[in-house]
Amino acid sequence: MFASKWRKWSVALLACWLILAPATAFADDFKNEVIYQIFTDRFFDSNSANNNPAQSSGLYDATHTDLTKYQGGDFAGIQAKIPYLKGMGVTCIWISPPFDNCNVSTTSGIGYHGYWARDFKRIEEHFGDASNSWTAFDSMVNACHANGIKVVVDFAPNHTTPNNSGEFGAFYNNGTFMADINNDPSGYFHHNPNISNYDNRYETQYYALSFLSDLNQENATVSQYLLDSMTLLQQHGVDGFRVDAVKHLTWGWQYVMANKGYTNRDSFYFGEWYQSTTGDPLYKDSAKFANKSGISLLDFPLNQSIRNVFGSNASFTQLDATMGQENVDFKWANDQVTFVDNHDMSRFLTLNNNQTRLHQALAYILTSRGIPCIFYGTEQYLFNNTNGGTDPYNRPWMNNQFSTTTTAYQVIKKLSDLRQTNRALGYGTTQQRWINSDVYVYERKFFNSVVLVAINKGATATNVSGAITTLPPGTYTDRLTNQLGGVSVTVNTGTGGNNPVATTSIPANSVSVWSYVDNAAQPPRLGSVGPTSAQPGVKVTIGGTKFGTTAGSVKFGTTAATIVSWTDKKIVCTVPAVAAGTYSVTVTNSSAQVSNASDFTVLTAAQIPVTFTVINASPTSPGDNIYLTGNVVELGNWGTTFSTAVGPMNTPNYPNWFINTSVPAGTTIQFKFIKIKADGTVVWENGANHTYTVPANGVGFVNVNWQY
Ligand code: NOJ
Ligand code: NOJ
Ligand code: CA
Repeated sequence: MFASKWRKWSVALLACWLILAPATAFADDFKNEVIYQIFTDRFFDSNSANNNPAQSSGLYDATHTDLTKYQGGDFAGIQAKIPYLKGMGVTCIWISPPFDNCNVSTTSGIGYHGYWARDFKRIEEHFGDASNSWTAFDSMVNACHANGIKVVVDFAPNHTTPNNSGEFGAFYNNGTFMADINNDPSGYFHHNPNISNYDNRYETQYYALSFLSDLNQENATVSQYLLDSMTLLQQHGVDGFRVDAVKHLTWGWQYVMANKGYTNRDSFYFGEWYQSTTGDPLYKDSAKFANKSGISLLDFPLNQSIRNVFGSNASFTQLDATMGQENVDFKWANDQVTFVDNHDMSRFLTLNNNQTRLHQALAYILTSRGIPCIFYGTEQYLFNNTNGGTDPYNRPWMNNQFSTTTTAYQVIKKLSDLRQTNRALGYGTTQQRWINSDVYVYERKFFNSVVLVAINKGATATNVSGAITTLPPGTYTDRLTNQLGGVSVTVNTGTGGNNPVATTSIPANSVSVWSYVDNAAQPPRLGSVGPTSAQPGVKVTIGGTKFGTTAGSVKFGTTAATIVSWTDKKIVCTVPAVAAGTYSVTVTNSSAQVSNASDFTVLTAAQIPVTFTVINASPTSPGDNIYLTGNVVELGNWGTTFSTAVGPMNTPNYPNWFINTSVPAGTTIQFKFIKIKADGTVVWENGANHTYTVPANGVGFVNVNWQY
């Protein structure tokens, strides 16, 4: 009797543990991943029972000719294709938003893409089952994990459904109605027009993104609901998030979201900040956001250069310049996610129907700086040029094309394997070695491990002698085994480690990849720390090489951290209880050898989103801006520059200015507002510092007068 009760209990406990336990095999060093972006509806249909569900019937097209409708793809379909993904070297999938989505057709179309959630606690019936349960989702995630594949979910907390038709934004908390745009007594939504000026910070964050019901994350109920939804995904095993429309959400709430996720478990966040070039008016904002938030970005400026260079035959100097500029502006450059195309632009083959160029572009993202992300079907040369190949024709049905013998499939596999064996790709620095309009030779280097890549997109073989490299002297075969027309290279002995590449003719239309792995056992080399900011007690994953199999220590400054686990390439530790501030993290191996260092910001406490308003601020002229600064690391430790103070603030009701940012829970802080003039001059408000005690949970608001 007792025994059988105990057995029941232990089964129940085990079931809870399976759902709730953080999968320690999966940590947030994503730099060595190869991500594959899946539109769940468009990939593979393994369960026809969910194709035309009762609660949202009539939205499905069985003929696969009307791409504005659901096509039948589901989680069971993704699960069925795991061997195919694994065979391609995919180590992580990013799936389209999985939540219960708008149930009816709207004037903006049908929500097969998942970006119009109506219930952030339940699963879409077309992807799972008619009771909106998590069963098929859990099964898919577990099967991915069992095959060494991580799962990233597209999370879209900016909005619910369209505000002008269909369900008018109605959303539910696990089935319980919360509000819709016309019935919103608690202020869960913003009620503003559509964004018209995408370069205006206030509009982009507080106006509606093309008729989508814009959620108000400064409302405590909405904030908690969305944070709970994210946590629920983590409890269901999700390893990371692609955050939709990060340009359109307040920064403070997103800092809190990422901090909460990292506090829950090891994770990785990358956001969609749509822009075209490093000359975009908000480009510097995007870098500032990425450097502080714990949320990397999809690398849109690099994407534009990739399309220009490989698609439209622009000079390689453009790609090199974008890469160079971003590597200066993005502190965690190796965490940015790179891509050739995605669901919001025409596919590469629509832009240029040239598979050779597509292969070159793929080889480029798989070997250059950043985490490569491949849009589903690219490996099968999928494209549909109807209406210029734009939405929804850039999201075609896979149509059971799952060949494992295409050149693209094999190239992805080979370069993914190289990424696992040579950490220069995930952790390295980037150096241009030879360049003209058609030929690009670049080197990736992580200490003594090196990958040298030569791409010739032109029609003429080109001699690149004169190039130097830090590859050790010797002859290197092409790691693509000549599949993209590559060749071997010989490296001669130079001085000071600068070794000349022997006269080598790089064939027309070719890619060659040469690799050297430093196999010495020590000293320890640190390649990744994630997250890069957190409060004491949060788990941090450290990636690198040569840590050894016997544990040594990890130090934040001079303070040793508690070690949770230690392997040769990955350590998990917790942030020690040191004063808030920025520290150098180092690894010391069991033979007392110390690694290189990486920065880590210890936060004061868990984070709370607070909206700060200053009334009647100092008069400003065009180009002047008001910023917030204060005595905690979260407020920039009295910083007075664009990158260290919080801002620029918003001023829809000039001369009052406001901004939402995150500050440490339960902490009394001191702060002031400053004016940074167009010429860089800083003007402080007078008087004593303002003080504020941040709430222990929820959200906060502070209003003060500028002190003259
Ligand atoms: C960006 C997504 O990538 C796009 O496809 C979507 O429609 C919008 N955000 C709104 O969620
Ligand atoms: C100058 C400000 O006027 C003052 O209020 C603040 O305490 C300090 N900067 C911090 O260094
Ligand atoms: Ca189906």
